Amino acid sequence: MRAMAEIRNIVILTGAGVSAESGIDTFRDAGGLWEQHRVEDVATPEAFERDPDLVLRFYDQRREAVQTKVPNDAHLALGRLDAGWNGKLLLVTQNIDDLHERGGARRVLHMHGEHLNAWCTSCDVRSRWTGTLIERPACPACGDHALRPDVVWFGEMPYRMDEIYSALREADLFVSIGTSGAVYPAAGFVQSARDLGARTLELNLEPSQGTALFDKARHGRATQLVPEWVEQMLG
Ligand code: OAD
Repeated sequence: MRAMAEIRNIVILTGAGVSAESGIDTFRDAGGLWEQHRVEDVATPEAFERDPDLVLRFYDQRREAVQTKVPNDAHLALGRLDAGWNGKLLLVTQNIDDLHERGGARRVLHMHGEHLNAWCTSCDVRSRWTGTLIERPACPACGDHALRPDVVWFGEMPYRMDEIYSALREADLFVSIGTSGAVYPAAGFVQSARDLGARTLELNLEPSQGTALFDKARHGRATQLVPEWVEQMLG
């Protein structure tokens, strides 16, 4: 395992917990999104085939809501870290909101897609999308009416896994923030990072499912823990 002073390359994984204090529901906490909706009704390719209106309406409502939210102190701190860190840094997020970007982070990879994109299943082009999809608008690139939310559904492959694993291979430090560690492949990154020799740190409200795999864990609110950790890193 590498000593603190030798840390050059960082991979950060974030989940719904980092956006919770901006007012975006998490998935698995009490009252979370998957308590209000069955995953298989709204977040699978089969659901989209069976009842596209239900799925489009679900994402339309969330796309609209996300645009009313603002980055919190955890997003802002990660933005400062990205701007001030001279080594390699990759901020892998499972979140489909754009709060990391609005918090100033640039090196962001959305492994589960983005609310503010629409993906044309006819021409495969992704377009920035802030409005609704329920009325089946035309794709700006090809004109076909075949747009879907650009989000990874259950049973689909997360995006840009090769880039993530090559960053993990180079990482000296892997930090997991605000994720329950319940969904693979993201939940397996800590084991991969360890196997590849990185230090590992968890920052989460409570111990995640994989908490025992981390060298260190701090438990509390992201808006408190993340700025503290970033100050320490930027020293
Ligand atoms: P979860 O809802 O499973 O977990 C959120 C985690 O954040 C929990 O461990 C909470 O304890 C923690 N948490 C809540 N509030 C917090 C706060 N203020 N500060 C710090 N931590 C807090 O969400 P994810 O782990 O992101 O995938 O879920 C992973 C994936 O499952 C999502 O990307 C989504 C979902 O199904 C897809 O839709 C493909």
